[in-house]
Amino acid sequence: MEKKNIDWANLGFGYMQCDQRYVAEYKDGKWSEGQLTEEASITMNECAGVLQYAQTCFEGLKAYTTEEGHIVTFRPDLNAARMKDSCLRLEMPVFDEQRFVDAVCETVLANEAYVPPYGSGATLYIRPYMFGINPVIGVKPADEYQFRIFTTPVGPYFKGGAKPLTLCVSDFDRAAPHGTGHVKSGLNYAMSLHAIVSAHKNGYDENMYLDPATRTKVEETGGANFIFITKDQKVVTPKSDSILPSITRRSLIYVAEHYLGLKVEEREVLLEEVKDFAECGLCGTAAVISPVGKIVDHGTEICMPSGMNEMGPVTKKLYDTLTGIQMGRVEAPEGWIQIIK
Ligand code: PLP
Ligand code: COI
Repeated sequence: MEKKNIDWANLGFGYMQCDQRYVAEYKDGKWSEGQLTEEASITMNECAGVLQYAQTCFEGLKAYTTEEGHIVTFRPDLNAARMKDSCLRLEMPVFDEQRFVDAVCETVLANEAYVPPYGSGATLYIRPYMFGINPVIGVKPADEYQFRIFTTPVGPYFKGGAKPLTLCVSDFDRAAPHGTGHVKSGLNYAMSLHAIVSAHKNGYDENMYLDPATRTKVEETGGANFIFITKDQKVVTPKSDSILPSITRRSLIYVAEHYLGLKVEEREVLLEEVKDFAECGLCGTAAVISPVGKIVDHGTEICMPSGMNEMGPVTKKLYDTLTGIQMGRVEAPEGWIQIIK
């Protein structure tokens, strides 16, 4: 199989249309068999549930080429489970978890020519998503849905790769107490668009969102969870009911404890204590682990001792171990790597 002629090393995090995508339809209370299609556009009624009331959720995972030349994906079962949680919260029909994993593998395989080679610095981003498609005008869930998966080759989420980021403490909330912050619904991201545009206009890379009830505790950013490293090398990560349970963060906790012998605390993190940490990073599928150098809270600068030049030492160890597992250089825990080819 010949790879596409793509400048892998210079890819950003963008959409490139691949050859095939997966689609299954939900109608009369059941999902269709599902198939690949070359058609990238979707036609729907003007009153489709997703257009009127934003009934949509999604997932994000990646396919990697390993050192040995396999194409693999990372813990897709957890994406399937999280999508199930999103569907239940949004009154959407669940797509069977094993079928989800099989469909991910089928879609990646069909777009093998777009899977970046080992060592290129790029990966194939996989985007499963679901939306209500039949006309809905009274506020209620749709009766008909599509579950789709497309892929796109990507480079680093943040321009500049591993250069530490500058964040600002946002005046906006991305989630409400008892809302949908813990599931991957499109509406959470719609909420965050004004905040991210404002942050960029003011020269920041991302927002640090605080807990919406008291605005004293660190939650997450628009697209990643936080990890902090204390001066005595403990990993601390915020616990909250309104943040997305990041698969990367859950994996890093395991890596920290079982591969690196570090202590981990998953607990509430006060904004006030951020100045005392030694390192800070953003973790997620797209973000991988992106180091944070500075956080600006309404004019007050919190500068991480790890600095603005490179990742802090513990963050780097976490990054190397996690990406080593994903690329086949480090032995993975049982069940983490799904071999596609
Ligand atoms: N938090 C938000 C809001 C996200 O959009 C993402 C991305 O998926 C994450 C955290 C990280 O989650 P994961 O590691 O499962 O990709
Ligand atoms: C991901 O990391 O998969 C996400 O969905 C985050 C998004 C901001 C790209």
